[in-house]
Amino acid sequence: MVASKYAIFLFLPKFAILIMHLPETINSPIIHTNLRQLYIESYGCAMNFSDSEIIGSIMAEHGFEFTNDEFNADVIFLNTCAIRDNAEQKIRDRLKHLRGNKKKNKELIIGVLGCMAERLKSKLLEEEKLVDLVAGPDAYRDLPKLVAEVEDGNKAINVLLSREETYAEISPLRLNTNGISAFVSIMRGCDNMCSFCVVPFTRGRERSRDAESIVNEVKVLSDSGYKEVILLGQNVDSYLWFGGGPKVEFKNASEDVKANAVTFDQLLEMVALVNPSMRIRFSTSHPKDISDEVLFTMKKYDNICKHIHLPAQSGSTRLLEAMNRTYSREWYMEKHRRILEIMPDCSISCDIISGFCSETDEDHKETLSLMEACQFEFSYMYKYSERPGTLAAKKMTDDVPEEIKSSRLTEIIYLQSKLSLENNKSYIGKTVRVLADGLSKKSDLDLTGRNEQNAKVVFPKSTYNIGDFVDVLIERVTTTSLIGIAVD
Ligand code: 5AD
Ligand code: SF4
Repeated sequence: MVASKYAIFLFLPKFAILIMHLPETINSPIIHTNLRQLYIESYGCAMNFSDSEIIGSIMAEHGFEFTNDEFNADVIFLNTCAIRDNAEQKIRDRLKHLRGNKKKNKELIIGVLGCMAERLKSKLLEEEKLVDLVAGPDAYRDLPKLVAEVEDGNKAINVLLSREETYAEISPLRLNTNGISAFVSIMRGCDNMCSFCVVPFTRGRERSRDAESIVNEVKVLSDSGYKEVILLGQNVDSYLWFGGGPKVEFKNASEDVKANAVTFDQLLEMVALVNPSMRIRFSTSHPKDISDEVLFTMKKYDNICKHIHLPAQSGSTRLLEAMNRTYSREWYMEKHRRILEIMPDCSISCDIISGFCSETDEDHKETLSLMEACQFEFSYMYKYSERPGTLAAKKMTDDVPEEIKSSRLTEIIYLQSKLSLENNKSYIGKTVRVLADGLSKKSDLDLTGRNEQNAKVVFPKSTYNIGDFVDVLIERVTTTSLIGIAVD
């Protein structure tokens, strides 16, 4: 979501097809003979990429090794996304291509995992004859058994959603890693019920992962030389560890349990203290849940990066209400102001949807004016795509014509490019601290990395290496990058 995985999450279209190139060797204590070959492709958000690493670990424990040659695979897993219709269309197109693989290798097992699997369930097996196995996001421990069922000549499916599963103790197999930056999943599911969103239906109830297991994973990453962790969840600010189970049950917990609960600001602090020179990032924040405590914790620790992804979705209070976002335009702007009051150097990025049900020109203008007012450093911008089963699909009409959705989206993208360029220009002449995470795609003589605010920086490699923290003086910029030279 691959110079740095975070780079993928934040700066490429979210549903670009990205193939995980998997390491040939794995750190499994079990010695296998005749290892079967597994090929995984991950689509969609960072959470899916993180899940693929959990799947990798589970499969490695059951006699699989990884191949990046799809034609050499015994099993192909597509870890899918369902958030917009075009994300599912990509998977269907990919499945068509995989017919050729199946023709060459009749024994090949094809599994569809993740959100699309959860949304369509057994329908997927009926509609896509090629698919042998379907597994939802909470069923990954069952994958080896499901593969065995297919080997016995059956189709296999598990789409049960869990109220407890967090894969807490599974040590993810770091796939396609640059050895610098790693995802750490801290919670699963979402209880928010934004009316446009299918995630609560595909990923189930919100539940948090044991804080101790998160801290232990970060320690292992730090000991292995990783320089950055990205804490992941659909809604990280509502993280609440109180011993397991869905968050909705917290209100029934005993006073003792409540007193020992770990909130997101406390978790951030625990993670920041693991290694003061390790960078900590997190995503995604719902504006209603990000608290002053989180902001003050970010401010207190130099190693917590000053960047918040704070999706607004729309600038119109009327639409925000229809979206069930639980805040108004003014409330969002006040939260935005508060963040900058506490951390003037914090960058704030956004998600915007154009053409949601009943959106008028006036609503659209309010979105543009919110963007101008907040001067977002970066945004992900989408056309509304109706998702079956959501509140909006049931109760509202998808009545904004496609051409209007597109023209509004073009205006939103145009404005964001202008804002990004203006923001980037403000760095010219300044020195920023960059964690180098890869070689530039354009030249092997240049390194790329991110500053604390998550802006992409390019500079001549000289004697520096991937994984170094480098001070870079910014000389010129584009809409997407800061370009400069390293200074001692
Ligand atoms: N149509 C378009 N965009 C959507 N998103 C979620 N659901 C939809 C939908 N049905 C966007 C939101 C969210 C991001 C992950 O995807 O902006 O923040
Ligand atoms: Fe979807 Fe809203 Fe949950 Fe985000 S917070 S995953 S948009 S329901």
